[in-house]
Amino acid sequence: MQTTIERHIENKDRRNFLKLAGLAAAGGAIGLNTACQSTIKKVPSIDHALSDKSFWKRVQEQFILDPDQTYMNIGTTGAMPLKVLDNYDRYNRVVARHPMGFSDELGWDFGLIKQREQLSMQFGCTKDEIIITRNTTDGLNTVLFGLPFERGDEILITHHEHVSALSPLHVLKDRFGVVLREVEIPVLDLEHGDQVVEAFKKNITPKSRAILFSHIPYKTGVRLPARAICKLAQENGLISIVDGAHCAGMIELDFRETGCDFYTASGHKWQCGPGATGILYIRNHGENLPLLWPQNSCLYQYISQPVNNDRKQISDFSSQFGLRGQENYPAMQALLDACDLWEEIGRDRIEGYICGLSSYLKKSIKQSFGSSALLFSPDIPEFTSGLTSFNPFKDVNDQKMIEDFVDRLKKEMGYVIRSTEFHLHKEDTKNSHALRISTHLFHDYAQIDGVVDAMHRLYKKMQ
Ligand SMILES: Cc1ncc(COP(=O)(O)O)c(C=O)c1O
Repeated sequence: MQTTIERHIENKDRRNFLKLAGLAAAGGAIGLNTACQSTIKKVPSIDHALSDKSFWKRVQEQFILDPDQTYMNIGTTGAMPLKVLDNYDRYNRVVARHPMGFSDELGWDFGLIKQREQLSMQFGCTKDEIIITRNTTDGLNTVLFGLPFERGDEILITHHEHVSALSPLHVLKDRFGVVLREVEIPVLDLEHGDQVVEAFKKNITPKSRAILFSHIPYKTGVRLPARAICKLAQENGLISIVDGAHCAGMIELDFRETGCDFYTASGHKWQCGPGATGILYIRNHGENLPLLWPQNSCLYQYISQPVNNDRKQISDFSSQFGLRGQENYPAMQALLDACDLWEEIGRDRIEGYICGLSSYLKKSIKQSFGSSALLFSPDIPEFTSGLTSFNPFKDVNDQKMIEDFVDRLKKEMGYVIRSTEFHLHKEDTKNSHALRISTHLFHDYAQIDGVVDAMHRLYKKMQ
């Protein structure tokens, strides 16, 4: 598969780039070509005509995960496919040999404009609405500290937000007197998306300014009705900010259709890009565009200041948020390669496969552990994601039991999962604890059987 850089250069001066990248004869002579051929095994191409089973086997062969362990914690971070890893290695070698390599070949913007164009086509928006960030946290900080909140302004959040959102939110609270209004979302009794929308609706007051929520809260893995929540925000004149850490690379995303003002996601988790990569969507079309000040940018004087930060007068508004001094250009380019690979596989096909595995896991858990095990992620298609949280033990407040379980599952059985903790109900004084299992495109059904069997055996031992 041709990378963006290669395609871009092909239109301009391919020979020159090949020389620079060490891919032409001269590069080979100076050793870069050989150094770049560190491929451990040949990557088979993905053929959509294959049967489902063979197709996913081909996809799974793209990864070099340690076969002695089954890695099921993509919710924390993913794993680069070989193709992406090899390209990342190549890009790093180019800049190690030619530190100005990316700008020499791709222009003053290091290819960022082209990359953003490519991403916008994959995520349902336009180039002026998307940037590459360092991760979800980076995107959340850009948005939360860029919006002009004032004392007394209320921001609605769920009672299951991540520290990456809570941390900047609490700074806003202490620094500017912003009020955080925690909304309890249903967990065990969730049956309809309307319940979640209703919970937010009841908490809107004349002081409400924004709604911030995780599209898929990391604690339970439930997929929240993002579109309906954003619609509610819109109808009430509120800004909508979505923490989509778990969504890019797991589910098909169309930012425009979601109807949010801001959407921030990780590139290193389900999208399987390099560490410290993410994407941020900043709605730049339609009515009521929220005022946003660049906080971490080196283009303010060039882009925003000349027009007093008037968004209507800036054609590529987001671009100023994407340049923050020297960047990790090889990582950014490698993220694009991961996104290209997902397109090649088919994002809808990936989502269907992940949710299929996840639903099978939930059914297997119910079958093995019985109805007394608490499943915090409902097995209902509209709420299903690649994250499954449950607790098989009688005392859901027993933190040590769950932590020991996770440790022993890894050490004794070779399955890597993680634990989460949360208040089941907003007013709870004690945390509930859960085991959280991530199922991704590099897993197969036999591994789901394997993890359920291993968990059940360990559970019996620990009873
Ligand atoms: C819901 C949620 N938001 C934000 C983050 C932080 O993501 P990142 O490491 O990409 O900043 C996480 C990480 O697990 C998360 O689960």
